[in-house]
Amino acid sequence: MSAINYSEKIPNNVNLGEDRTLQRALESWQPSFLNWWDDVGPEGSVGYDVYLRTAVSVDPQGWAQFGHVKMRDYRWGIFLNPAEAGRTIHFGDHLGEKAWQDVPGEHRANLRRIIVTQGDTEPASVEQQRHLGLTAPSMYDLRNLFQVNVEEGRHLWAMVYLLHKHFGRDGREEAEALLERQSGDENNPRILGAFNEKTPDWLSFFMFTYFTDRDGKFQLAALSESAFDPLARTTRFMLTEEAHHMFVGESGVSRVLQRTCQVMNELRTDDVARLRAAGVIDLPTIQRYLNFHYSVTIDLFGADQSSNAATFYSSGLKGRYEEGKRMDDHRLHEQHYKVLQVVDGKLQEKEVPMLNALNEVLRDDYIKDSNAGVARWNKVMEKAGIDFRLTVPHKAFNRQIGALAGVRMSPDGRVLSPQEWALREGEWLPTAEDRAFVASLMGRCIEPGKFAGWIAPPVMGINRQPVDFEYVRFN
Ligand SMILES: [Fe+2]
Ligand SMILES: [Fe+2]
Repeated sequence: MSAINYSEKIPNNVNLGEDRTLQRALESWQPSFLNWWDDVGPEGSVGYDVYLRTAVSVDPQGWAQFGHVKMRDYRWGIFLNPAEAGRTIHFGDHLGEKAWQDVPGEHRANLRRIIVTQGDTEPASVEQQRHLGLTAPSMYDLRNLFQVNVEEGRHLWAMVYLLHKHFGRDGREEAEALLERQSGDENNPRILGAFNEKTPDWLSFFMFTYFTDRDGKFQLAALSESAFDPLARTTRFMLTEEAHHMFVGESGVSRVLQRTCQVMNELRTDDVARLRAAGVIDLPTIQRYLNFHYSVTIDLFGADQSSNAATFYSSGLKGRYEEGKRMDDHRLHEQHYKVLQVVDGKLQEKEVPMLNALNEVLRDDYIKDSNAGVARWNKVMEKAGIDFRLTVPHKAFNRQIGALAGVRMSPDGRVLSPQEWALREGEWLPTAEDRAFVASLMGRCIEPGKFAGWIAPPVMGINRQPVDFEYVRFN
């Protein structure tokens, strides 16, 4: 059931061969996908053999198999977690009814929108990261970048399958449009703001995979509760891949910190100019990058009060994070939640109906999860005997979406005058100078076992291979 059929042009575990029309439709989308990959996927990587994992089954044990493959030949395909017999809807106004195997007419537009919005982020991140291979700090990191890229490509396949199978002609048109929008394009940008930002350097990449891929985790987790069973099963499998992306981010930032702390101790200094001259990224710059990626990412959860969020929940389309583990009535009609607003220059909490605040609920769950990793980063400084600590900025810092959009706020939560903000912004968000400095460190360091001077090697290699393993063969 969960084994994947690799003998077909499109690997799948959904018996694609039994549905000729769907199979033909997807086979005709496949060349467009490959053209997209060639045009805006990882630059200059066509001839490389990369040590990648490929899903061979969706079972929890050993779902992945490792080997050197050309990325263009990666077995992108359609993998759903096994169906749960007799699954019922466990939240919203349809609670207790049978989960849907097909899209109910009245929810068609909303479901399509949810799937397209999720689908759009997947190719967007590949586009954002396409130049990074040219400045990889090691062969190990290069391989991790490529692994993330091919899996985001597969996530696009996952959403395109749902569109083709369940949304007819509209779905096919949406699938085409997913390859036409482009990250940062003036005329036809990606749907969400954070996915039109640049990922110009590897510190940004690690912050992105830590913070923004984690947004992916929370969105997918909420969709894995969906009453629309194929969406729930698809996103559940995607979540297993997402875990690796966040590992790349968390361990990446951790290794940058480790290297900086090492040089701080060697030189016995925290002087930014001296550390930069020694070729490492000073801790205040890392904090500014963190502030930027964190604030841009929490905007992705949407407006703090949203009638769409209420509709999505009540109609069973999108649940809360870990809906099944919560001990309430799973309908939420009588419940309230606190959101923030600024009144007379001060932040205030306001109680609103919880159904309307579900974006905020998910954002708060995300914030808790993010903070845990930041605490682990701080252990690196603690161990090195350095008293600098990273912090996540206040939820209202640098927001562009919702009631807090445009509020001038310090990272520690004080409302500021426009003058004070203008004066101090450069202490809190990466400046052009910071970015230019980080960019100046980005050179290509790709001999097996060698690492750029601004990052420490990892503790372990991938799939129990040594750190100096030949993860990428350049041919
Ligand atoms: Fe993804
Ligand atoms: Fe991801």
